[in-house]
Parts: sequence; C-alpha cells; structure tokens
Amino acid sequence: MSRKILIAGNWKMNGLISDGAALAKEIASNVKNLKPNAEVLVCPPFTLLTTVKKALRGSKVMLGAQDCHAEEKGAHTGDVSPVMLKDAGCDYVILGHSERRTDHKETNALVKAKATAALKAGLKVIICVGETLAEREDGKAFEVTEKQVKGSLPAEANASNTVIAYEPVWAIGTGKTATPDDAEAVHKHIRQVLVNKCGKGVASRMRILYGGSMKPANAAELIAKEDIDGGLIGGASLKAADFTAIIEKAK
Ligand code: PGA
Repeated sequence: MSRKILIAGNWKMNGLISDGAALAKEIASNVKNLKPNAEVLVCPPFTLLTTVKKALRGSKVMLGAQDCHAEEKGAHTGDVSPVMLKDAGCDYVILGHSERRTDHKETNALVKAKATAALKAGLKVIICVGETLAEREDGKAFEVTEKQVKGSLPAEANASNTVIAYEPVWAIGTGKTATPDDAEAVHKHIRQVLVNKCGKGVASRMRILYGGSMKPANAAELIAKEDIDGGLIGGASLKAADFTAIIEKAK
C-alpha cells in the first residue's frame, strides 16, 4: 500500500514575525524548485499563523497549528479554537504532543475531544504518541503507545483526516534518535492497533510519522522503513536548509 510521505515541521515556541516569514518563504521557494515526492507542512506558533499563511501563498506547503481547544468558542481565556484555526487558513493541527501531555497534563480523553472538534471544524489532525525513557526501559513502549492510540483517536478518524506521529519522548530534542529498526517495530505495532480499531483498509492507508531528533543525516533510513510515512520535525525544521534536505530524502 503506497502512502504519500508527509514531512511536517513543528516550530514549537520559536519565531518572531520577521524570521518566521523569512523561514516560510525560503521553505516555499525550495519546495517549488524541488517538486518533492512528499507533502510538506509547517506548524508555527499561533502568533505566526497569518504571517506564514501569507508567506506560503502560491506554494504547496500546508499550514498547521500546534494545539487547539475542544470547543468552538466561549469563556476559555488564552485558548484558541479549531474553528479559529480553520479561519486563519490552517489545514492541520498537531494534538497530544508529549510537551503538552507533560506541561499541560493533557490526557488521552482530552486529546480525543480536541481531535473530534478539530475534525468537525474541517481540519486534519496529527495525533502524537510515544513512550518515556523509563517506559521504554521497562519494556512498555508497545503498551503505552497502544493505550495512547486507542484513547486519543476519535471515532471519526480515517486515513484522509488523521495522521499519527510516533515520537519517543526520550528522542525529542535530545539528539538521540530511535534506530530505524526500533522505530519501525513500534510503527508496525501501531498499525496493528489501527487494524483492530479502524479496520484493515483504514489502517493500511493511515500515515504514521516518526518524530524525535530527525535530521538530514538520519531521515532517509527512517523513512525507508515500511511503516514510517514521514516525519514530524522540531529542531531541524527551524533551518530551511535542514528541513529542505529532509524533504529531499522522501522517496
Ligand atoms: P525534535 O522534535 O525534532 O526537535 O526532536 C520533534 C517534535 O517534538 O515534534
């Protein structure tokens, strides 16, 4: 089953208006020249969404946000709703990133509620899962990611509106990448969980990205694995040259 590779940049809490616009423009122009074999997405912080949207005009690079609230509007100071993200021009929203699960105590149930609302607003979702170092050392990587996938994916999830990102927490921003074989083992397990949850057809078409210190030097080997359908890239997505080099590896 061939799945279109997705290369997604997660800018996290980085970028001011001038450098965000410049980064987006450079990525857009590189992608235009490359005509890559992959879909490309950038997810800047909320304050840069409209700036980046403008900078990407005329290019195929898609826009995403890094979180949303589970409701459309109302008394939720500091939050942003999926309807607002759609209105700002977003195609995607990342949900359940481990930094949000840790910093904001987000549970699987909350991630699922956010995903339901995002899909209703017409956004596509990237739902993040991944074990901590202690869980991996305890041999619990499969168990933890299985529970997260089962608990965070809404019933409406299908292969066109939902992407999973497997991001081992110990590999995020640490420079330690899962070996392609270790990552593939978890991806394969997640795909099996999807077979049971969504059926064989959806499971074979749903994309599962790897995230955690992906960079130009390791991207090709990871993406070459059967069940790894692209990357969610943090640090290396903040430099146009590195992000572009990763996009070029998507074959
Ligand atoms: P990293 O982050 O590439 O900097 O490890 C990935 C992520 O957290 O999405």
